Amino acid sequence: MGVAFRVRRIAPDDAERLRSVRLAALADAPGSFWQTLADESARPGEDWRARALRNSAGDAHTTFLLERDGAPTGMVDVYQPSLAPEFRELAAMWVAPAVRGMGAAGVLLDAAVGWARTVSAVGVRLWVVPTNMAAVRIYARHGFEPVGSPEPDTDDPAGKVYMPMLLRLDMEEAASPTFMARALAPWTDESG
Ligand SMILES: CC(C)(COP(=O)(O)OP(=O)(O)OC[C@H]1O[C@@H](n2cnc3c(N)ncnc32)[C@H](O)[C@@H]1OP(=O)(O)O)[C@@H](O)C(=O)NCCC(=O)NCCS
Repeated sequence: MGVAFRVRRIAPDDAERLRSVRLAALADAPGSFWQTLADESARPGEDWRARALRNSAGDAHTTFLLERDGAPTGMVDVYQPSLAPEFRELAAMWVAPAVRGMGAAGVLLDAAVGWARTVSAVGVRLWVVPTNMAAVRIYARHGFEPVGSPEPDTDDPAGKVYMPMLLRLDMEEAASPTFMARALAPWTDESG
């Protein structure tokens, strides 16, 4: 396609880039995310600096930024859910409208899942609005399967419903009778 994308792990000095890409995502696609533009806009600079620093290193949390010609044009977060610490949770996936349909989401997903493998996660889970077919199809193409049944998320400020999807990474663990219950441990908002 001739479009050069670069995906890289966030660095400590990326706080402003993270803020701009995340606020752009929430403004563009409020129907896709639990967090709201109002809440995230109100976060002080210190929060964004702490988040960029935390996600730049270590095994628990990360962010990958998608860049085109050096400008941030998409992102994905991956973090360790405290109630399911052997898993990683994928969140905040977004590709700017101008560069959609070019496979950028797949590049971000490959980076996120590759990172989860390197930190020895047994699986990657996510929550997607089930009518968001572009997203559901990409996740399915990358091996994520719908699990459980969509349940109304009463914590969502807008009352949206999310469907859990799961990518099994450790097949031995996945055969354990407790695997699915652990994978579906309740969602808590630890992305920020
Ligand atoms: C979902 C999303 C990340 C996909 O990113 P992407 O880089 O466009 O992904 P792809 O290039 O693989 O294209 C995905 C689909 O959109 C279609 N598409 C093509 N051009 C498009 C365009 N201009 N705008 C939207 N979708 C387009 C593709 O053909 C493809 O369809 P398919 O699934 O039938 O093959 C992106 O649409 C997005 O950021 N949406 C808003 C935020 C969101 O919903 N995030 C997911 C939260 S769980």
